Amino acid sequence: MSQSPIIAPSILSADFADMEKTFKMLNESEADWIHLDVMDGNFVPNISFGMPVIKSLRKLTGKVFDAHLMIEKPERYVHNFKLIGVDILTVHYETQIHLNRTVDLIKKVGMKAGVALNPHTPVSLLKDIIADLDLVLIMSVNPGYSGQKFIEHTYDKIREAKDLIADNDSKALIEVDGGINDTNAPKLYAAGADVLVAASYIFNHDNPLKAIRNLKYFGK
Ligand code: DX5
Ligand code: ZN
Repeated sequence: MSQSPIIAPSILSADFADMEKTFKMLNESEADWIHLDVMDGNFVPNISFGMPVIKSLRKLTGKVFDAHLMIEKPERYVHNFKLIGVDILTVHYETQIHLNRTVDLIKKVGMKAGVALNPHTPVSLLKDIIADLDLVLIMSVNPGYSGQKFIEHTYDKIREAKDLIADNDSKALIEVDGGINDTNAPKLYAAGADVLVAASYIFNHDNPLKAIRNLKYFGK
């Protein structure tokens, strides 16, 4: 485990009319990755943004692009996301019939592969694929919107995922997404989370740079 969590701000709560300003702040910040929430209005009720937007944003930063696909049949777009500069591609377990095939494809085209779990989806379902994953994304809210309340059961899921990863000699990182703030961040890190995603805590803060620092260094 590193000394501090990887911080992945989600731009879902940022001002879409001024992405230059947002990325100027993110580039100056201690954010490690940029979390991109792609929603299709089918898998989740909300619609966010897609490929053309991500392609334009790629020009604004050299930071890692961590795309979280909340869309049906995400396997259709794996090549497209590689072409527009995504580094880590995460699909939802609940969208997949042939998860092994999709994970192989993501890695074959040259991206890291992640699998996301809805709050009701057990970690144990990843047993036969965990060794092949680069990332497990544990949703700590129901996907679809930023600004929702953190689900406390997440801590147990993180500990379970940590054990599953160790038992299978997997190198997968554990990412947690939804309702994260400066109060639960240290507890999530202590439970075994490697990557913390946050949208509203960062972008609704008076000082987003400080908010990012609070998540990474717990106010120290
Ligand atoms: C929710 C998204 C999250 C969201 C997090 O479906 O996957 O990444 O932007 O927002 P907050 O941090 O406000 O819960
Ligand atoms: Zn997300």
